[in-house]
Amino acid sequence: MTQLIVPLSARVVRGKAHIPGDKSLSHRALMIAAMAEGVSNLQGLSVGHDVIRTRDSVASLGAQIEQAGTGLDVRGIAMDWPHGADLDLGNSGTGMRLLAGVCATNEYLSSVTGDESLRSRPMGRVIEPLQKMGARIESNPGETAPLRIQGGRLNAIRYDTPIASAQVKSAVLLAGLRAEGPVTVTEEVATRRHTEEMFTFADIDFESGDLDGRYFVTVSPSVPRCFDFAVPGDPSQAAFWCVAAAITPGSEIVIDNVYVGPGRIGFVDVLRRMEADIDVSTADGIRGSIRVVGLERLRGTDISGDEVAGVIDELPVLAVAACLADGPSRVRDAKELAVKESNRIEATTSELTSLGAQIKALPDGFDIEGVLTLGGGSVSSHGDHRIAMACAVAALCCEHEVIIDNWSAAVDTSYPGFASVFEGLSRESCSVV
Ligand code: S3P
Repeated sequence: MTQLIVPLSARVVRGKAHIPGDKSLSHRALMIAAMAEGVSNLQGLSVGHDVIRTRDSVASLGAQIEQAGTGLDVRGIAMDWPHGADLDLGNSGTGMRLLAGVCATNEYLSSVTGDESLRSRPMGRVIEPLQKMGARIESNPGETAPLRIQGGRLNAIRYDTPIASAQVKSAVLLAGLRAEGPVTVTEEVATRRHTEEMFTFADIDFESGDLDGRYFVTVSPSVPRCFDFAVPGDPSQAAFWCVAAAITPGSEIVIDNVYVGPGRIGFVDVLRRMEADIDVSTADGIRGSIRVVGLERLRGTDISGDEVAGVIDELPVLAVAACLADGPSRVRDAKELAVKESNRIEATTSELTSLGAQIKALPDGFDIEGVLTLGGGSVSSHGDHRIAMACAVAALCCEHEVIIDNWSAAVDTSYPGFASVFEGLSRESCSVV
């Protein structure tokens, strides 16, 4: 297992940060292109292992994928699957849950599994609606993977999802492409809209809006049309550099080609509330540049309610910002954090505490009291990319060297180049050993 060692002298970040393509959009672009009629050209896909697993999965299901310059050409199956397949999604919850919806449109049997962490994560949230639609799904005890899925032409349903989860919404909508009539998902709190955005590109007939005070999406059964798409950069990865600059006076970073679509840069609002100097300029409503200058110490803030769904992946690194801010911060209504790649409530609390932060775990978030600087020492990634990268950012404010265990296996799932970008921005050699 590798470690990342961040030297003491890494104190500021300056320059342009390169981020990988948006992970959520990359998964969906590959899946919808695989179901489409014709050849789609996809550029800028995330280079993380999670998305590579999705690429390999849709290829095993029958999509033909070829390298085309810097991108991929994907010839889809036009909603007529030639066979099922045994799929291994590694560490990727998004890959597994969305592909469960895709496999539900296939009359041949498929199996879906993943690594130890993924096999312990809750899958009942997608099993239940997909079974309501008529898919046959077997799972391990506790509704965990491996899943065995066989579907085909499904029932048209309305599903009022009890969980604020874009993955659940997306699994049902993808399955809805092969239903007997329109399929509707409603949510109490609208989650990220990547599936709806990709539906637009693939000319899929859907509508969304407000239904009795809930956000709804209705999709009509369709064969997606092939499309060309350049995936913009991942805002959840940009958030690490934004916090890194905001907590270190003297820093200045710029990140270009960031996806700034609805619900994806909620962390910018949080950082602004914390009085960070952060600027977003938008080119076309979807892509933009973010610039952050590290000036004064940040201020503590509260994050709760409807805001949580839009910052759920950024909470570990926002917790780092809060641990160094002036005054208390509170995070509530975020119990979903406990069922991510690790239990992020426990992992964030234990690793930041061991670095010297004052942070207390709650069932649905944290209580944080800001301190001026952190200590340092060895921490664990918990096999979770976002915990590993949040600790690397925290190391910028540590008085001692920081060693992050189990680095590469965790970070490579979403951001294989993170350590070299860190090195370039901090002008320090951070060793992966
Ligand atoms: C994602 C949705 C979120 C998020 C995950 C990506 C997606 O999960 O945490 O990293 O691409 O749909 P939930 O839907 O479980 O909130």
